[in-house]
Amino acid sequence: MAAKLPSAPSLSGFVAPALLRWYDAHRRTLPWRAGPGETADPYRVWLSEVMLQQTTVAAVGPRFAAWVTRWPDFASLAQAEEADVMAAWAGLGYYARARNLVACARAVVAEHKGAFPRTEAELRALPGIGDYTAAAIAAIAFGAPATVVDANVERVVARLFRLEEKAAIRPAAATLTPNERAGDFAQAMMDLGATICTPRAPKCLLCPLRDGCAANAAGDQEAYPVKPAKAGKPTRHGTIFWARSGSDVLLVRRPPKGLLGGMRALPTGPWTDSAPGLADAPLPADWQMLAGRVEHVFTHFRLQLALASAVVDRHAAPDGAEWWPIESLGEAGLPTVFAKAARATGEL
Ligand code: ADE
Ligand code: SF4
Repeated sequence: MAAKLPSAPSLSGFVAPALLRWYDAHRRTLPWRAGPGETADPYRVWLSEVMLQQTTVAAVGPRFAAWVTRWPDFASLAQAEEADVMAAWAGLGYYARARNLVACARAVVAEHKGAFPRTEAELRALPGIGDYTAAAIAAIAFGAPATVVDANVERVVARLFRLEEKAAIRPAAATLTPNERAGDFAQAMMDLGATICTPRAPKCLLCPLRDGCAANAAGDQEAYPVKPAKAGKPTRHGTIFWARSGSDVLLVRRPPKGLLGGMRALPTGPWTDSAPGLADAPLPADWQMLAGRVEHVFTHFRLQLALASAVVDRHAAPDGAEWWPIESLGEAGLPTVFAKAARATGEL
């Protein structure tokens, strides 16, 4: 009789307690973080989250400290000269973020009596605060059970559930978010992603969530999160000319610069967006389109080639062209795309 496998613990009941226990022992000390049991300052949480959107934790540290010495709260930042704030932002990413910091501080002073509102919806209405930042402030500064999803959290959650679809990550993360200590939970997920569940070679043996992790059980942690399919390559079109004289075929040298530069090749016109035709034939002849087609994928584009064939007058060949015996075409060193085209003529 087959042994009954122990079922994996339900992730929603297991993850938060195990992760918070780990966080209490291993949390990173960061300049904007409250100590254990302390309440975070919403101004510092907001500022750090905005700084961390384009800059690493290590690089943000000293910049954050200098900033809060100069502008320790909303009131001081609201009164700052925008030019000073922009200068202080140098190296921290888009300047629009700095401009929004000032605008947000002024709105907090003018519309909210100098203190952040507490709900995600009200936070999102402030300048520069998007979904991520609103959730991070609500959870970390106010303890609301908001689900905070940054790249670290995406990676951890995709692996825990072995999620293939990016769209499934946020709902799955929401099922893990506890009602109590949601801010610590969010930061614990970030710390786990930054230190244990890393993009390459995650340290699963040290991970407090290993017993519930589907990707660890399957051994394919690094396959998650699944990368979005690359944007399709553009397709270019062209015609390859098979110019025969007796048992020879006409070969040319490609121009020294550019794709397959200096290589021996079958004559072909430029590869463009437009449909193939006979306009770029290497010499006048009674060209016939062949049924065969050639597809080849280069690094930056996909090439679809039509084939044209003619029996030509040997003496009309362009300068620098050579006649090559068809039966030994394999020795001409043709790049793959031209070798494919030669095969597609059916004459090899
Ligand atoms: N990355 C972005 N926000 C963070 C935070 N609050 N703690 C750790 N890493 C972070
Ligand atoms: Fe990430 Fe490994 Fe932990 Fe799973 S067990 S969450 S893959 S570190």
